[in-house]
Amino acid sequence: MQTSVDPSIIDKVEKLRRELHRHNYRYHVLDDPEASDAEYDRMMKELQLLEAAYPELEDPNSPTIRVGAPPLSKFDAFAHSVPMLSLDNGFTDKDITDFDVRVKRFLGSEDEVLYTAEPKLDGIAVELVYENGMLITAATRGDGFTGEVITANVKTISTVPLVLREESHSHNPLPALVEARGEVFMEKENFKRLNDLRLSENQPPFANPRNAAAGSLRQLDSRITANRPLDIFVYGIGNVTDIVFNSQWDLLCNLKSLGFRINPLIRHGIVIQNAIDYFQELNEIRHQLPYDIDGVVIKVDSIEFQETLGAKSRSPRWAIAYKFQAEQETTQLESIEVQVGRTGTLTPVAHLKPVNVGGVVVSRATLHNEDEIEKKDIRIEDTVLIQRAGDVIPEVVKVILTKRTGKERIFKMPENCPVCDCQVIRMEGEAAVRCVNTGCSAQIKERIKHFASKGAFDIDGLGDKLVDQLVEKDLLSSYADIFELKTETTAGLERMGEKSAANLMEAIESSKTVSFARFLYALGIRHAGEHVAAILASRFQTLDAVMKAGQSDLEIVEGIGPIVAESIVRFFRQDQNIKIVRQLLASGVYIRYEKEDAGGFLEGKVFVLTGTLEHMTRGQAKDSIESLGGRVAGSISRRTDYVVVGESPGSKVDRAKALGVRIIHETELSFLLKGGKHG
Ligand code: IVH
Repeated sequence: MQTSVDPSIIDKVEKLRRELHRHNYRYHVLDDPEASDAEYDRMMKELQLLEAAYPELEDPNSPTIRVGAPPLSKFDAFAHSVPMLSLDNGFTDKDITDFDVRVKRFLGSEDEVLYTAEPKLDGIAVELVYENGMLITAATRGDGFTGEVITANVKTISTVPLVLREESHSHNPLPALVEARGEVFMEKENFKRLNDLRLSENQPPFANPRNAAAGSLRQLDSRITANRPLDIFVYGIGNVTDIVFNSQWDLLCNLKSLGFRINPLIRHGIVIQNAIDYFQELNEIRHQLPYDIDGVVIKVDSIEFQETLGAKSRSPRWAIAYKFQAEQETTQLESIEVQVGRTGTLTPVAHLKPVNVGGVVVSRATLHNEDEIEKKDIRIEDTVLIQRAGDVIPEVVKVILTKRTGKERIFKMPENCPVCDCQVIRMEGEAAVRCVNTGCSAQIKERIKHFASKGAFDIDGLGDKLVDQLVEKDLLSSYADIFELKTETTAGLERMGEKSAANLMEAIESSKTVSFARFLYALGIRHAGEHVAAILASRFQTLDAVMKAGQSDLEIVEGIGPIVAESIVRFFRQDQNIKIVRQLLASGVYIRYEKEDAGGFLEGKVFVLTGTLEHMTRGQAKDSIESLGGRVAGSISRRTDYVVVGESPGSKVDRAKALGVRIIHETELSFLLKGGKHG
C-alpha cells in the first residue's frame, strides 16, 4: 500500500482483514467456527471504523464490503474464457446406464468407470474470477458464452470468498488465475421469510426460491442484494493456472481448501449403479433439504477421461443430469372456490382434476387474487399448467391456450362474502378483497385454527374438522373460549369418543404455558407472522409493553415496517381484542417471558431433534431448549452439540455418528433442561 498512513495502522487493518476472511471460511465453508459471534462483530466494527478513518486504505475485497455498493445503470457483458456448457438430461435409470455404456465405448474401456454424483442445485449458475487470490469479477452464465457482470451483487453473499486462502498453498504462491463455477441459491426458509416480508410490505412475492435468487442477483443496486439471504455451492472451474487436478473430487477438495463452499452430500469414486442409488436416496429426502434440488449431476471422476471424452456443441460427454420427475403438470381446472381467511381476505382457490406432480397428488391450487386470475386469463374449465415448488402451495403457472374449446367461463369475484354475505371491500393499493365482518364464521374458524396450530399454542387434537364443528355448534366463538371447553361438550361430537375428548382436555391444559413469542403469534394479528412475533417478544419483553406501543415505538424496531406497525396498533386498539386477551389470561394462560426463566445455561448449544419423544412434544422440547438459551436446528452439522433421539428416529442418527456428534435420549434431555451438566 502506497500511503502515508502510520505503518502500525496498516498492519492492524491488514491483520483484521486476514482474520475476518479466515473466520468467514471457518464458519461458512468448514462449518466449524472459531470466533464467537460477539468477537467477530467486534473485529468487523473495528475494521469498519478504521476504514472510515483511513479511506486511502480502501480494498475492494475487504470483508466489510458485503453491504453493497452504489447502484449501476446497467450490467456490463462478460465473455467466458471457457464456455459454460449445459448438461444432457436423463429421466430414467436406463438413460443413466446408457450414458455409462456410451462413456465406456468412447473410452474403449471394459472396466468400470468411476463417477462423482452431486446434488443438482436449482439456482443460478455463476462464474467467479480470482486473480492472484483476489475476486475480480463475478458473472452470470448468460447464453454460456457471454454473461453479465454482477460482481458487486455477488460480493454481498457471505459464503463467497472475497480473497482466496493463502494457507492452503503455503508451499506454493496462490494460483495466478482461478475461475470457479457454482450455483447461487436461496434456502427455502429464507425464501419464505423474504416472501412474508414482501407480502407485509405489499410487494409481490417470488414464485419460488430460484426466482427469488435470480431476482436478487439481477439488482442494479447491490445494497438490495445485500439484504437478500443468498448462498453458493461451487462445483467446477473454467480456467485455472498453477494447480493440476487428477479428478473431479480432487478439484472439489482443492476448491474447498482455497475457501469455496462445496456441497456436503457429494459422493465420489462410485460406479454407475451407486450413482443411481444415490439419486433414489436424494429423491426421498429432497424435501427435507434446506434448499431446492432438481436432480443429480453424475460426472466422470477422472480428469484424463473427461479430456478424452470432450464435449458436444452444448454439453460435455462426461456428465449427465439425472432429473427428478417434473414438478409441473397440466390438468383441468374444474371450478373456483372462494375461501375466507383468518383476516377476512378472500382467496380464490382452483379445484383441479387430481394429477400427480412429482409424487404428490394435487387437486387444489391457489389463484392468489382477482388480479392474478385476470393477468393470467384463467377461466373455469381451462387446461392449466400447475407447479409445486418445494413446500410452497401448488399454483397455476399458465393456461394452455391451444387447449381452449370456447366453452370456458370467465370467473368473477363475488361482491359479498361467500360465508356471511357481508359486503366485501378492496383496500387501496391492495390486490386482495376482504370481508370486514370480524364476526364472520369463516374468519372465526380460521383464527381458532391458527391459534391452535403448531407454531402457536400447538394444541394436539384440536384439528380443522373439530374446530369447524365447534364453531358451527356455537361452542366456540373466539379462541379464548377454547379454555372454557368441557369434556362433556366435546365428547358428544362427531368422531369424538370419551378418550379423545379427555386427551383433548389434557392437551388444552398443557398448552396453557406458552412463550411470549408464541402467544403473540397466536393472536393472529395481521402481518405479524412468527418472525415478527419473535422480534416483538425480544424487543418489548412484556405483553403490556406491546399493547401500549405506538406506531413510532414499533417502527423504530428493526424488522418492523410501517404496515406491520399499523396493524399491531390497530389490533390492540379494538376493545373486543383486549377483552379476548384478558379472557385468555383469566382462564389460566401463562406467558413465559424470555428474561424471566432464561437460566441461559444452554446458551449457544445447538440441538437437533429426531424421532418421537415420549413425555413432551417436539414443540415443547424446542421451547424449553430455547428458553434456556439453546437453539434447535433442522439438520445435523459439525456445529450440532446434541442430537436428541426419540422413538423410531430417522437417518439423522447415522449422520450424527459419522460426524461424532453427541447422541442423547429424552431422559438425558430432561436432565439437561433441569440444569444438569452433561459431559
Ligand atoms: S456441472 C459442464 N454441477 O445445472 C458441466 N452443474 O444444466 C456443467 N448445476 O448451468 C455444469 N448443480 O447451473 C454442474 N453440481 C452441479 C450443478 C450444476 C447445478 C446447474 C448449473 C448448470 C446447469 C446445467
